[in-house]
Amino acid sequence: MPDSDSPEKAPPTGDMSAAEFRRFGHEIVDWIANYFEHIEDLPVLAQIEPGDLKAELPAAPPGQGESMEAILSDVDRLIVPALTHWSHPSFFAYFATSTSAPGIFGELLSAAFDVKSMLWRTSPASTELEEVVLDWLRQMIGLDPGMNGIIYDTASVSSMHAIAAAREGIEMRIREEGMSGRKDLPLLRVYASDQSHSSIDKGVITLGLGQRALRKIPSDSEFRMDVNALREAIDDDKRDGILPFCVVATVGTTSTSSIDPVPEIVEVCEEHTMWLHVDAAYAGSAAIVPEMRHILDGCQRADSLVLNPHKWLFTPFDLSVLYCRHMDLLSRAFSLVPEYLRTPEQAKVRSGSDYGIQLGRRFRALKLWMIIRYFGHEGLAARIREHCRLAKLFASWIEESKDWEMMAPTPFALVCFRAHPRALTQTVAEGKRLDTLNEGIMHGVNATGKAFLSHTKLNDKLTLRLSIGNIRTYAPRSDTCDKRGNYLTSNYSCFHRSTARSVRTYYWEHGRPRPRLSAQRELFKRKLRSSRVSGRGRPRSQLLT
Ligand SMILES: Cc1ncc(COP(=O)(O)O)c(C=O)c1O
Repeated sequence: MPDSDSPEKAPPTGDMSAAEFRRFGHEIVDWIANYFEHIEDLPVLAQIEPGDLKAELPAAPPGQGESMEAILSDVDRLIVPALTHWSHPSFFAYFATSTSAPGIFGELLSAAFDVKSMLWRTSPASTELEEVVLDWLRQMIGLDPGMNGIIYDTASVSSMHAIAAAREGIEMRIREEGMSGRKDLPLLRVYASDQSHSSIDKGVITLGLGQRALRKIPSDSEFRMDVNALREAIDDDKRDGILPFCVVATVGTTSTSSIDPVPEIVEVCEEHTMWLHVDAAYAGSAAIVPEMRHILDGCQRADSLVLNPHKWLFTPFDLSVLYCRHMDLLSRAFSLVPEYLRTPEQAKVRSGSDYGIQLGRRFRALKLWMIIRYFGHEGLAARIREHCRLAKLFASWIEESKDWEMMAPTPFALVCFRAHPRALTQTVAEGKRLDTLNEGIMHGVNATGKAFLSHTKLNDKLTLRLSIGNIRTYAPRSDTCDKRGNYLTSNYSCFHRSTARSVRTYYWEHGRPRPRLSAQRELFKRKLRSSRVSGRGRPRSQLLT
């Protein structure tokens, strides 16, 4: 790469000068390094009230440009305190995820290249790298070469495209003639379990199938789709003149991370000539761990599968991968090439825009390529394996404690549990008290800013969810795992081994007032200042010791 001899001053109608870019670029990279070194000193959940940030921002845009110094200082002063820190090692809510250094560099370069990856010609690097890196990932999770990958932004969009391809496969000319006002078109049906993600509902809504097109199949006591109920639902629908065309199975459901029995579901789909789409948005990444590859059993016969590297492969949001066995159907559903986009090479190359609603697409493959190269398959697998180990360790403490209970199995790195003090039985009234108690614990923990938990309802019982998936959440020394009495006590006292004593006290004591924006701002400034003086960060997270 040539070294620049660009002028110090930028032309009046041009971009920032190269000298300034270099200076602020270095400063921002330093800032990010400090941010990661001190992130655990920040409250994980933004401790501001709705409207606090807006109240501090000018209502009108600046007429004249402002200095980068002023802008960056407002990042410290205003933006950081209003952040919920997804990269915080104590972010345990939803599905915990995190970015990683090679991923950030990939984003930075991709922003610099600013490629619109729509045709091979507009983005040969993006087009070809995407094919190669998705084939690497396919090999890492053990899918067969019949599956081709394409990158979208989110799993919601990936699944919507999969259902659109499935619909194209029923040969009802819906692309050409639409669905409304057609007497020849029966009600089309998609099946998913009652644990499936709401993105499937949104997919059928977006595609104009209507919410009634999605039939929810009950799940069993371990939150897996009941395959007999699926069979019955399909038979019923066929008798009623409805056309079943797609089943969505989930590997790693959102509430509990349960795994639908894909090997049996695929049989049903083959029997009825239906498309099987697998939503492995969260858990699909775990198949890169050799001893966990079996989680995708049956998926080798699926028609499509979505997996989100932005969930559990340390990839900055966003990057979702759809693997599809019938790229021809995907392209039949979406390809449309106007004259101004025709190129001489189009018959021999792949153009991303042929496979979805977007024309221009971000160069997302770059960050995934850099992540896979930097950590390697084994390095990535080791991180996921460790997250699963920590989750199982945590689950074992819940199981050992008489005042806490597990609410679902832990196949990956998500623990579903609740406080259940011995004194409280299972009557309806006490069930409500348990919900209130657990809700209070969650809000209490979250208000401390030291950890962030989320919840779900399982069998109508409020359930706490602790998800481990952050690259900064790890136990630094394996021997410390034996000191279970000390586990998380500094950060997260409700998980102290003597929870029996602490449940009620925790509940009452942790509803304390939250620090305001200005207090957080001061805290963060102090941290940055002290790290600039010493030039060194603190040791890495002690969270799980
Ligand atoms: C199983 C599952 N599918 C789909 C999604 C939607 O993911 P995205 O935000 O990428 O659309 C989620 C989100 O958590 C999920 O858990």
